Amino acid sequence: MKQDVSEKITSLAKRRGFVFPSSEIYGGAGATWDFGPLGVELKRNVKDAWWRTMVQLRDDVVGLDGAILMHPRVWEASGHVENFTDPLVECRNCRKRFRLDDLPKGEELAAAWRAKKLDLSGVSCPNCGERKLADPRQFNLMFKTFVGPVEDTASIAWLRPETAQSIFVDFENIQQTTRKKLPFGIAQIGKAFRNEITPGNFIFRSREFEQMEMQYFTRPSDAPRFYDEWKETRLAWHVEQGIPREKMRFRDHADDERAHYAAAATDIQFAFPFGWNEFEGIHYRTDYDLRRHSEFSGKNLEYFDDVANERFIPHVVETSVGADRATYAILCAAYDEEPDKEGTRVVLRLRPHLAPYKVAVLPLSKNERLVPLAREVWSKIRPAFMSTYDETQAIGRRYRRQDEIGTPLCVTVDFVSLDDQQVTIRERDSMSQIRVAIADLVPALREKLGA
Ligand code: GAP
Repeated sequence: MKQDVSEKITSLAKRRGFVFPSSEIYGGAGATWDFGPLGVELKRNVKDAWWRTMVQLRDDVVGLDGAILMHPRVWEASGHVENFTDPLVECRNCRKRFRLDDLPKGEELAAAWRAKKLDLSGVSCPNCGERKLADPRQFNLMFKTFVGPVEDTASIAWLRPETAQSIFVDFENIQQTTRKKLPFGIAQIGKAFRNEITPGNFIFRSREFEQMEMQYFTRPSDAPRFYDEWKETRLAWHVEQGIPREKMRFRDHADDERAHYAAAATDIQFAFPFGWNEFEGIHYRTDYDLRRHSEFSGKNLEYFDDVANERFIPHVVETSVGADRATYAILCAAYDEEPDKEGTRVVLRLRPHLAPYKVAVLPLSKNERLVPLAREVWSKIRPAFMSTYDETQAIGRRYRRQDEIGTPLCVTVDFVSLDDQQVTIRERDSMSQIRVAIADLVPALREKLGA
């Protein structure tokens, strides 16, 4: 049953133009995805909601859009060249490769490996069943490329595996140009790339994805307090996006499983149809990144506190959520089915601010007297809301089509509208209907959408 919901969401996403496999006519491109006309709206709304909360509504956070390609020394300083690895296990019989923690009882195996007590001799290969798994080797997840025409070690560039590093590298530029005093944050949304060994579960784990990250720079002694505060602030944000509190939980990282930069870390997990999994990480990164960049670049990245007359390297609390994974969690939380007289009504109960279309305009039929008025009504709505128009098929089926993609409101133009210049607003969730004068339509829609 659980698997079933995942399949239904994946199929809906494909059928209705939310998400397609990238390069599908060539057989796909290895865990990369294209967001179609509805998906691009939904994901952009998720990103806009994050930006609004994290930057627009706060006086202590500013934004950045850093370049993806950075100086290669950045990734040596950040520790990614040395440490950004997953343990890769290869079957000596069928040659299939697995991430150690993706094998059956993977968490136990990973813990044994970290404790240097791993024995794979009794573990069967999930592909061929033979007990011929070789000991793990470290596999670096960064994609390597070359800048310029010569492919040598001097021209190596890495596709960033996290957006955070440009925030650290630009820390001084931003602090000086904005004159921000500690504590303050820098937020960024952008692409990240990881050569995942076992991508999967639709858009949950892919090789190219977007992150929404924020680094909060503080005095060292304040960092533990901000770490706790940001955990709660971020959880509350997900609730505002329509994810029920009971479908989320924190999972603190044990000492031996944290990323190389973190002194404390917790995942916000969501109850995906395939199990509890991380979709946001909150990390206490100490002064690790700024200190390493100071060492590697030779540039002193200390902050001067003119009140305390002190110089020190700020500590950082990071919040990092995948835009794709958050979008997936929101889709899962919004997906609903209810019985109706035609069988089953599928409804995406998306919050209005996230819905790809806020309003759909539907003439009762394709009748040549109705269509001009319906189009005129749509032209009034379009500048105010992302909206759509549909005149094909019976009206009941068109309502269902809009329910399935999460459109909160439909506006129906019927024959009476021609005489009384009124239209019907139909709500997705309650399916209730009210009549409104066309002249008052935009404010009435605005009020219903809470926009
Ligand atoms: N800067 C910290 C950092 O990158 P992370 O826990 O490795 O931390 C943060 O990643 C978030 O990025 C994850 O919670 C997830 O939402 C998203 N993410 C990471 N790898 C991903 C992948 N392969 N596909 C999709 N999203 C991914």
